[in-house]
Amino acid sequence: MNLPAYYPNSAKINAQNHLEIGDYDLTELTERFGSPLYVLDEKTIRDIAREYKQSLDEFYPNNLPIFASKALALKAVFSILQQEGFGLDVVSAGELFTAESINFPADKIYLHGNNKSIDELERAINYSGTKIIIDNFNDIKLLGELNKPVDCLLRLTPGVECHTHEYIKTGHLDSKFGFDLEHLIEAIEQIKKTPNINLIGLHAHIGSQIFEVNPYEDVARILLENYVKLGEKYNLKFNELNVGGGIGITYTSADDPPSIRQVMQILSNKVKSLINEFKLEPPKLIVEPGRSIVGRAGVTVYEVGSSKTVPKGRHYISVNGGMADNPRPITYQAKYSACVANKAAEQNSQVYTIAGRYCESGDILIKDIELPANIQPKDLIVLFGTGAYNYSMSSNYNRVPRPAMILVQNGEAEIILQRENLEDLIKHDVLPSRLAN
Ligand code: LLP
Repeated sequence: MNLPAYYPNSAKINAQNHLEIGDYDLTELTERFGSPLYVLDEKTIRDIAREYKQSLDEFYPNNLPIFASKALALKAVFSILQQEGFGLDVVSAGELFTAESINFPADKIYLHGNNKSIDELERAINYSGTKIIIDNFNDIKLLGELNKPVDCLLRLTPGVECHTHEYIKTGHLDSKFGFDLEHLIEAIEQIKKTPNINLIGLHAHIGSQIFEVNPYEDVARILLENYVKLGEKYNLKFNELNVGGGIGITYTSADDPPSIRQVMQILSNKVKSLINEFKLEPPKLIVEPGRSIVGRAGVTVYEVGSSKTVPKGRHYISVNGGMADNPRPITYQAKYSACVANKAAEQNSQVYTIAGRYCESGDILIKDIELPANIQPKDLIVLFGTGAYNYSMSSNYNRVPRPAMILVQNGEAEIILQRENLEDLIKHDVLPSRLAN
């Protein structure tokens, strides 16, 4: 049976009509590790990472794909991607510390952020080799105060529009990120007065969950035009060109993203033709995908509890997780697909709304989805495409412990994130002695 494009690569339906991922039956996995459960398919991550790396190697050999760790910042994920030849984009001391804790090679780490603290900048400089993406004038000032040599890229706001949700669009001019083209000269002049900053390249990121290819070509042109203009005028030796991340994934059958190979090919060809046009030494081409690496590798398994049918209306089924483990539906009206893990081969014949367990009416994971009829308590609902920006944006809303995450592959299952317990929830609470009983 051909499974839809939003399933992880190793997904199968077994003889018991159960969904398996990584050759592990999800009903057995939740018996062993409980639910809700984040499940991550190692094969999908490696397949996709290789698609990036191999297509870049084929079309533009001087390349470095780096994982935007904000999508899923976990040691095991960093380690898999290191093995696949990736670098890392980090945006906080926490993400950097996670990388440091597994000795991730510093010369493949890039620190981003529109409001980096001096401590974060210092930490990056001390993890020697880490590069910094200068986003604003304050970065330049703080780096000057630190006065230690550091390689940096400059982030531009290219003014490229793309079709995605307003909150996850970053490359348009009215954005909190990066220098608009009017302020570039001033930025470079300040950098020139800050001798410890070694400016080695330019960066731009246009947004996330993008299905079009043209914006990447536009961004390459804008970056390289400025590369030439600024490089000549200020005698700068640029050798890195970072075009950001953002390639979209399939969440539902309505989504039809281009293949990664296709985007890498078109982007590489554009960069090569611009290099010829401008007679440049080929820079290192950096791409920084997050969602497209881990999104489809992850699923979340929930258990069904209560249900209700409103008069002449919807069938609600409530699951034991929701907006705290997956804030994307309530934040971005994000759409997801689902199946019932223990009835994976049954015909879909009834429309349900899958409600979360959190005390908010808006905590609906999926509105109106067809699933097999007669869903019962303890059935297992699987949401697909939850690998990116689910755990990394999760919370303890309603003081509910966060789920565990299990890495599966070839019938093996390993915990890569422990399930939180009730003690974890109160471990930072402090009761002033005058209030203690
Ligand atoms: N580079 C930069 C500078 C970024 O800001 C981002 C994402 C990426 C790379 C990776 O983009 P990706 O390949 O993952 O699309 N929380 C939102 C997405 C926010 C994206 C933020 N920046 C969501 O859940 O849809």
